[in-house]
Amino acid sequence: MQTKESLISYDMMNEEQAKEALQLAVSLVEGNVDEFTDCFPDSNSQDNFYPKSENIEWTTGFWTGEIWLAYEETGSEKLKHAGEVQVESFLDRILKRVDVDHHDMGFLYSPSCVAAWQLTGNETAKKAALLAADNLMSRFCEKGQFFQAWGQLGAPDNYRLIIDCLLNMPLLFWASEVTGDAKYADHAKAHITTAMRYIVRPDYSTYHTYFFNPETGEPVKGVTHQGHRHGSAWTRGQAWGIYGSAMAYRYIKDTAYLEIFEKVTEYFLLHLPSDLIPYWDFDFDDGSTEPRDSSSAAIAACGMLEMARHMTGEKAQYYQDMAKRLLLALRNHCAVTSKEQSNGLLMHGTYARKSDENPCANRGVDECNTWGDYYYLEGLVRIHRDWKSYW
Ligand code: GLY
Repeated sequence: MQTKESLISYDMMNEEQAKEALQLAVSLVEGNVDEFTDCFPDSNSQDNFYPKSENIEWTTGFWTGEIWLAYEETGSEKLKHAGEVQVESFLDRILKRVDVDHHDMGFLYSPSCVAAWQLTGNETAKKAALLAADNLMSRFCEKGQFFQAWGQLGAPDNYRLIIDCLLNMPLLFWASEVTGDAKYADHAKAHITTAMRYIVRPDYSTYHTYFFNPETGEPVKGVTHQGHRHGSAWTRGQAWGIYGSAMAYRYIKDTAYLEIFEKVTEYFLLHLPSDLIPYWDFDFDDGSTEPRDSSSAAIAACGMLEMARHMTGEKAQYYQDMAKRLLLALRNHCAVTSKEQSNGLLMHGTYARKSDENPCANRGVDECNTWGDYYYLEGLVRIHRDWKSYW
């Protein structure tokens, strides 16, 4: 547990450290690219090494995003080629509908295909990302006004939104921008309005998922899927809330989202343990033997750096500084320092941890995960230079 005073006493990552950490991370990505050009790393490592995977699950876009971030830093033709090979895989995936009956089109297609289109004008990437946006649109539920995360559309046992989906919304704002068709952005705004209304609790902790009545659209209840308890704050969910509310403010400019950002971020920061590497659920604090989730700190840092761009003066400085504190802690406690240690970038993440109130099996506990690697690298890029977002 922290206080406002204790938080500002931590060292921040300075420019030299940021440059070194970024160079190291980029060189590790370059070293891993031969292994993962025609395939992808699995969602999480095993003993800190990712097995190879097909283009499945919600997580493969993060590796392609790392390739594009590293390409931006180096201009390497090899990285560009690898990114282009992966873009073809993403087009193939959406055309053949391989594991796309869910809402995670933004996680998959923003860092891979929107990035490729922005950086290289790749038309295949644009086509794939627009098809993914259309696929996400097909999951909008009129009754309740939200995107259904998982399962058969309209099924009562899956009629819910999840906080993570806030990060899928930028794909829709992008689709409206490139097509000139407002329908994507309109649906994204409707989903964000619903999500923010129900998923943020009075104390600014957050529910992971929220159910609605499929007949009436009335709100039913908040339920955890990956957290420790229904009433606890799953750490990564809270981090998605930080980055998600920053994105909501960036695209909609409603000051209500600025306030939500400040409050959910405060909740996250005040519940950090003394080394600033969060446990997987905020039920746990210093002295616990439960595992950490480093990826949450990386996501939160990127969210703060995004929001700081839309603020001025002391507030902008505060969130930049806090992000640099989290990134320094990640560098000191979790960053991979050699290819012998891991083929990822950030250790000590947790994909899923079993508890009495969630349906999860233990998975990727105290391991690297692809989104932790990606957001750590995005955070380092963001503090190194003025980065044009893929989101
Ligand atoms: N979006 C799923 C997760 O954060 O595990």
